[in-house]
Amino acid sequence: MNNLKIIFFSITLTFLLACNTTPESNEIKVDELIMSKVDSLLKLMSLEEKVGQLSQRFSAGLDNKLSDDIKNGQVGSLLNGRKNFYTVKERNKIQKIAIEETRLGIPIIFGHDVIHGFRTIFPISLAQSCTWSPKLIERANSVAASEAAANGVDWAFAPMVDVSRDPRWGRIAESYGEDTYLNAIFSKAAVNGFQGKDVSSEGKVIACLKHFVGYGAATGGRDYQYTEISDRTMHEVYLPSFEAGVNAGALTVMSAFNDINGVPATANKKYIRKTLKEKMNFNGFVVSDWDAVEELIKHGIASDKREAALLAINAGVDMEMKTLTYQKLTEEVKANNLSENIIDEAVGRILFVKYKKGLFKNPYTSLTNVDKANPTLEKRKLARQIASESMVLLKNKENILPLKNKKINIAVVGLFANETNVMGWWQSLGKNEEVVTPYSGLKNNADSNITITKEVNSKTDVIIACVGESSTLFGENHSRTNIKLPNNQEAFLNKLKKKGKPIITVVFNGRPLDLTGVLESSEAVLIGWHPGIETGNALADLIYGKSNPSGKLTTSFPKSVGQIPVYYNQRNSGRPHQSNYRDETSKPLFPFGFGLSYSNFEYDNLIVSKEKLNRKDSLVISAQITNNSNVQGTEIVQLYVQDIVGSTTRPVKELKGFRKITLAPNESKVVNFTLKTNDLTVLNDNFIPIIEPGKFNVWISTNSDKGLKGSFEIEK
Ligand code: BGC
Repeated sequence: MNNLKIIFFSITLTFLLACNTTPESNEIKVDELIMSKVDSLLKLMSLEEKVGQLSQRFSAGLDNKLSDDIKNGQVGSLLNGRKNFYTVKERNKIQKIAIEETRLGIPIIFGHDVIHGFRTIFPISLAQSCTWSPKLIERANSVAASEAAANGVDWAFAPMVDVSRDPRWGRIAESYGEDTYLNAIFSKAAVNGFQGKDVSSEGKVIACLKHFVGYGAATGGRDYQYTEISDRTMHEVYLPSFEAGVNAGALTVMSAFNDINGVPATANKKYIRKTLKEKMNFNGFVVSDWDAVEELIKHGIASDKREAALLAINAGVDMEMKTLTYQKLTEEVKANNLSENIIDEAVGRILFVKYKKGLFKNPYTSLTNVDKANPTLEKRKLARQIASESMVLLKNKENILPLKNKKINIAVVGLFANETNVMGWWQSLGKNEEVVTPYSGLKNNADSNITITKEVNSKTDVIIACVGESSTLFGENHSRTNIKLPNNQEAFLNKLKKKGKPIITVVFNGRPLDLTGVLESSEAVLIGWHPGIETGNALADLIYGKSNPSGKLTTSFPKSVGQIPVYYNQRNSGRPHQSNYRDETSKPLFPFGFGLSYSNFEYDNLIVSKEKLNRKDSLVISAQITNNSNVQGTEIVQLYVQDIVGSTTRPVKELKGFRKITLAPNESKVVNFTLKTNDLTVLNDNFIPIIEPGKFNVWISTNSDKGLKGSFEIEK
């Protein structure tokens, strides 16, 4: 029996074992049917046609070369976008060649980087994570999916679920931050948003978990660099967000650029074949990153394209993005250097995903849906909500914000005051002219008693300084050693300060920045991120108090580059009291989980339901949260745990839960968290989760640096 058959056989067995009529069992039946179709199709395919399916091409348009290659069955997928995006018409024309002019009519799958929106551009992913709302993340990706699908995209290269702890690394902007638990939750939410319950239904696209794995740990924060990640850290920190996405049904995974402890991710059999495909039971396909297969030569583990291709396919990379080394695989099979079973497995997985997407039934995209992809009022409303919930208030001296019910003259100044390019690094088909700038948002939403000017004058009461880093300073291959505001903007703020007027600084950034100077010159500081199409409106909602800030940081903001890496869930040393630098503490400027509100939330009355619990027990931890102010507000209540003594050293704190609650003025709510011993497992030497007896600290808190503290014990 070949590999593919073994996989199918074992999955079939799983069906039989789970023989009931739950939605899951129906899905399994559908998959079984698909797999038998895949099996039949595979039998009809020549070796050359199989190898062709493993190739994802990049071509700015349909030229003779591409057309001939498709006809010869050499193209399994096309990367749409980057230099040129195929219109639906062009896409269908290309598809028609595959369907009508190839021997077997296997459809092409079209992939595109749908990162934080397609036409309606939402805040960058790092910002979205600061909403701490899986629901909103799911909805944003669902809108993105529907717009992309209407434009002929079958497959989104997202979500990126790389845990990211280095602000120098430009791609931190694409991530959901530094915490594994949050990354896992948002990974699932994003996959649900893209794929829905049935990925073949209208408006859904295939998700792609990327970059597998450990890409965020790039040495020195320099993009693409090698990574040194212990097996334990890999399993505890970097793999769980992928596993969560696989369990949510993600149908593709992209391998990463980085070298992991000496073996590039693209050639990493241990992680792709063993961990992802075997242990996690991932049954979709793995695509390499851009050029990454051929780059195995530059990594220094392959001497030529032939070797590079063999390393990648053997490691479990099913489809090669852009480079053409896999074309060599036909000869390699013929020369008995590679088993055809390995090719069959890869092709089987790709065909499986194409069937799941419904491409065999509906290979073409309807021309009539394109207009539906434009940003509508409803979608803009969602983008506005997400943008305002993702902004994080870091300072609000003497409650200068909100600027409400005041007759006031506001000057909106700074490099970003009229900026439309606040859509992050990946902008897909977002249009600058559709973006509401900070200035226009503040002007259009102002009450009649507010006057807005573009410069500071004698009548100015308050200055809103819009500063930040442009989308070309972060993103892929855009790492920085200096994480202060660029372009002399600190000096600009200092000069502004001399005017003697209060300054509210709004920062439009793609990474945690060193804001020490900004804090000194500003009465209030709001992190805006790159908020997308509704930038100005979302900002106005917060500035004028129509909404109350509720975003909380999902990455620590360091005091300086010298503190990096700085994240909340570090492990202790034997001398935790001596962890500071000579010239600086080890604490960041703002910790993970931090974010202010116009309300004032008080935490009291922590109750841990049991002091001791056995291995099968669970316990409830509760606290009373009171809104001690006269404005309604939303608070993200966080639960942290520390395993005090274990068989391996544990982080000083680990996020184990959170709730987003809204409280009316003076309202109190008791927030309960249930912890099962299963939530407290550690990995043994074989990376199997086990429950270890012993004492734990627990906190319910407003951020990772504070909290009401209790304790409990798991009995022997
Ligand atoms: C990036 C991926 C992206 C791919 C295709 C690569 O350079 O690392 O995240 O999906 O290009 O555009």
